[in-house]
Amino acid sequence: MEPLCGRTALLQLAWLLAVCVCTSSIPWDRSNASGVLLEGKSPQDYGIRSGNPLDLPPPDLIEPPNKMLDPKPHDLNATTLKAKLGRNFDPNFMSISRPVRHPNNNHHNQSELAEFPFKRNKKGRLVPMGEMPRSLRKMNFKYIRLPDGSRLRTRISAKLKKKLQQFLWAFTACPIVYRWKDLGIRFWPRYLKEGHCPPGKNILFNSF
Ligand SMILES: *[C@@H]1O[C@H](CO)[C@@H](O)[C@H](O)[C@H]1NC(C)=O
Ligand SMILES: *[C@@H]1O[C@H](CO)[C@@H](O)[C@H](O)[C@H]1NC(C)=O
Ligand SMILES: *[C@@H]1O[C@H](CO)[C@@H](O)[C@H](O)[C@H]1NC(C)=O
Repeated sequence: MEPLCGRTALLQLAWLLAVCVCTSSIPWDRSNASGVLLEGKSPQDYGIRSGNPLDLPPPDLIEPPNKMLDPKPHDLNATTLKAKLGRNFDPNFMSISRPVRHPNNNHHNQSELAEFPFKRNKKGRLVPMGEMPRSLRKMNFKYIRLPDGSRLRTRISAKLKKKLQQFLWAFTACPIVYRWKDLGIRFWPRYLKEGHCPPGKNILFNSF
């Protein structure tokens, strides 16, 4: 069943891409989409349509219901398929069997697994973790450019600039909510952990 394997690999790549976009701690920078995975080429070079990053996760594929097209048990040899994926098999985001809830996580259910790149300090203030997004770091607080081309100085102090940056960082940070998705019998590994931003929390600064 070679065609199945080829198709599975392609879909795997598409899903990996989607998962990477969703879970990257650095906001997706449209001007530089050359991750290691794409080896210096843009997704468009591979025939992948450029989409609105706010439309993630991608819609489900429409599969022909014909049971004859389903893989047979011998096509689903986990040893062989896992060897094919090699180090691309990421157990944190992929699962061969239906994932069970973590025993220590009983009172949080699956859909509440969220990651937010901030923590609270003792005074209750939000402290960012990791590196400030490049777009915010590079944002010009010194002046505003008016439509006639002239510049209006803002006189924002270094201290206020830092506060504004931290506020915008927290305000626009994407709390990634994870959910396991059952892709059905035609995908291997069948279960993928999907991350998404709740609506309204995923404002991008890339156009600044
Ligand atoms: C894109 O990112 C890669 C590494 O992430 C870097 O090596 C490359 O110089 C960047 N390209 C541009 C055009 O910024
Ligand atoms: C899976 O494939 C391996 C290697 O081809 C083989 O040794 C093994 O018996 C297979 N397992 C099953 C359950 O068919
Ligand atoms: C899990 O959490 C969601 C959202 O908080 C809620 O709608 C759902 O009912 C919960 N499910 C269970 C089994 O507790």
